[in-house]
Amino acid sequence: MKVLVTGGTGYIGSHTCIQLIEQGYTPVVIDNLCNSKEMVLDRIEQVTGVRPTFMQGDIRDSAFLKRVFAKHSIDSVIHFAGLKAVGESVEKPLKYYDNNVSGTLTLVSEMDLAGVKSLIFSSSATVYGDPASVPIKEDFPTSATNPYGRSKLMVEECLRDFQQANLDWSITLLRYFNPVGAHESGLLGEDPQGTPNNLLPFVAQVAVGRREKLGVFGNDYNTPDGTGVRDYIHVVDLADGHLAALDKMKHQPGTHIFNLGTGQGNSVLEMVHAFETAANRPIPYEIKPRRAGDIAECYADPTYAEAHLGWKATRDLQTMVEDTWRWQSQNPNGYQ
Ligand code: NAD
Ligand code: WQD
Repeated sequence: MKVLVTGGTGYIGSHTCIQLIEQGYTPVVIDNLCNSKEMVLDRIEQVTGVRPTFMQGDIRDSAFLKRVFAKHSIDSVIHFAGLKAVGESVEKPLKYYDNNVSGTLTLVSEMDLAGVKSLIFSSSATVYGDPASVPIKEDFPTSATNPYGRSKLMVEECLRDFQQANLDWSITLLRYFNPVGAHESGLLGEDPQGTPNNLLPFVAQVAVGRREKLGVFGNDYNTPDGTGVRDYIHVVDLADGHLAALDKMKHQPGTHIFNLGTGQGNSVLEMVHAFETAANRPIPYEIKPRRAGDIAECYADPTYAEAHLGWKATRDLQTMVEDTWRWQSQNPNGYQ
């Protein structure tokens, strides 16, 4: 079965390609390489023995997508391609609406023309805004606190409307919590360009000596140690969640929504200390003011995914930080 993977050379897409290949699927990767490198394909081949078919191009380019669908008989699409930097989205909102919203609309139009009616979309826990309580269930109210989050929410709503008008389609919205970790081989991992926005890549770069110290954004939240609490999920567990969604939902018309998280919250300082143990070195940090837009606590109720997809995260915090460290220490400058 051929699965089109948009954004397939990116962080989550590349790990999903490995799981797809290992479970007998044939991924066809498209990516414009705006935030990833073609070398990722070499690494996927090193791990699996299979080099995925790759076509470089942009999801906003309908002529390109027509060529992709004409060349390959695609059964389903897993759609990762998108921009994800919250801060940049505040400065350049139109870039985010164009790439994430228009890009998805173009992709869905071309799927429709090609008769491909099964889509899995990368949504985010950011669509819950500042939740009234935790753990978060799928039916909690949604809201956006920045243009990136609003682009995810807009796409969710567009896809829901589209599915209502096209009842034979299966659309699955996967709301990821905080993806971390790397492939256990140490060959694939997260490779942010410039200063990392997210906690674990920053910690990993401090550990490997690329940065002097971590800034901890606030220690006065109403949490056990005062620092922010998140639901960190291993990227390979997340990838497996996509395979479960593909397997279970492909032939189930409807709009399906699942949280992909572990259900466990960990604080910034717990993450720092776990990483210190994995890397066997201290991670210098200093307490800084709260980061604008941050919330105190965010973690999933993952029971709906377990009940309906037969999936749950299995990799623990220690595995997440050990795998991140293996990737970072073996590739101190990322994919070079
Ligand atoms: P990533 O940047 O590593 O991967 C995204 C890939 O999409 C990159 O390879 C990039 O080059 C490609 N891309 C971007 N715009 C494109 C376009 N117009 N046409 C073709 N390719 C394009 O990011 P990731 O962490 O792997 O995230 C994948 C998806 O999951 C994104 O949609 C992101 O918003 C979503 N998500 C990520 C997180 C996270 O924390 N990493 C959390 C929730 C949701
Ligand atoms: C985690 C915790 C920070 C960096 C973001 C997006 C969200 C989703 C996942 C895509 C928070 C603290 C961080 C640092 C710190 N992405 N922190 N120092 O903010 O939960 O979610 O990524 O959909 O939309 O908003 O993740 O990793 O940035 O932060 O103290 O240098 O670490 O304050 O408590 P976040 P994060």
